[in-house]
Amino acid sequence: MASEVSEHLRERRLLLGISAGIAAYKAAQLARLLMRAGAEVQVVMTPAAREFIGEMTLQAITRRPVRCAIFDAAHEAAMGHIELARWADLILVAPASADFLAKLQAGMADTLLHTLCLASEAPLAVAPAMNQAMWRHPATRHNVLGLQGRGVHILGPAEGDQACGDSGPGRMLEPEQLLQAAEALLHKGRMAGIRAVVTAGPTREPLDPVRFLGNRSSGRMGYAIADALLREGAEVTLVSGPVSLEAPPGARLIRVQTALEMHQACLRAINDADLFIACAAVADYRPSERASQKIKKDADTLTLDLVRNPDILADVAALPQRPFCVGFAAETNDLERHAEAKRRAKGVDLIAANRVGDGEGFEVDENALLLVWDGGSSSLPRQPKQRLAEQLVSFISERMDAQLTTEDS
Ligand code: CTP
Repeated sequence: MASEVSEHLRERRLLLGISAGIAAYKAAQLARLLMRAGAEVQVVMTPAAREFIGEMTLQAITRRPVRCAIFDAAHEAAMGHIELARWADLILVAPASADFLAKLQAGMADTLLHTLCLASEAPLAVAPAMNQAMWRHPATRHNVLGLQGRGVHILGPAEGDQACGDSGPGRMLEPEQLLQAAEALLHKGRMAGIRAVVTAGPTREPLDPVRFLGNRSSGRMGYAIADALLREGAEVTLVSGPVSLEAPPGARLIRVQTALEMHQACLRAINDADLFIACAAVADYRPSERASQKIKKDADTLTLDLVRNPDILADVAALPQRPFCVGFAAETNDLERHAEAKRRAKGVDLIAANRVGDGEGFEVDENALLLVWDGGSSSLPRQPKQRLAEQLVSFISERMDAQLTTEDS
């Protein structure tokens, strides 16, 4: 619960940055949640943010004077800006405006908040909040990619109605979600330092401008795995087919439609990854041609010509510097035999197999898994996908450790 003291936030020092935007009013609620969770919170605002939220409110909530001015003799005497930069265990900027991100990317230091971001070695997370067109603008896309490449955690944004009347991506994540992300970032979990790429959801293979071949994967298992990994401290890239789920805060979300797009996105993201979990229900085949116009029902029968899609999991597993690879197998029968055959055929470290059909597997909240690796197998009992994902992640962590130990000896 948000109101409880959190073991990961208790007595941790959080520098809460606030830049100018309507969403700044939510920063008060975030500060309150962080305080309740037991954190020490120091608010630093950009000068323009003061137009959106009062210092008194934040000071009352955090019981500390709010810092803002870059040249402030009184505050500098109490705790200089370099001291403040060293003080922080985590810097969380919420909301982070387009202008804030642009200056951060450029390494500018013309406000106290930017100076602190530059001078601190603490993990830095930003929660973008801006108009959807500003978020989509190539300049912002470039800045966000650059920051991500430097290890800045981009939390959100969410999609939806905006204060300006528009609708689309650019809404700041809710304070509760940001609290959860801060907890995950400060939690030195068993996956700390691990870079993971997870695929999730279905793919859509277009037939014509309005139709596609798809499947019933909801993406729930893959999203739950991404969430469990984040909670254990991993850095997560989630490559997702079209689903109606919100990405867990802190995940780097790459949206794709087709198997070819997913293949390309994964091979790009896999670079220095330690772990690859292929949870997506990738279409094995795609129409050999995509009609440029809607296909008309002229004939009584219609034959579709399909071609094989690349096997993303097998291709990642075949890379010379490959990460630890986990695949899924959805089977209606002979679970263990098919899982082991798939493990060998794709050359992966672990297969998580589940039964599908008759109301099992897809579009349901619960699942059970049979885990098969080289030299063993074990079962995870039927339970909600979120708990199952936590157990799977903990099992993967054990297998990764075991493999490292074998390689070292
Ligand atoms: N997979 C993949 N790329 C594909 C197909 C599958 O990465 N083009 C991954 C899935 O994400 C999953 C595993 O491979 O981790 C499933 O393997 P697959 O052979 O597709 O399983 P099934 O679809 O169950 O295969 P089959 O229909 O032959 O049983």
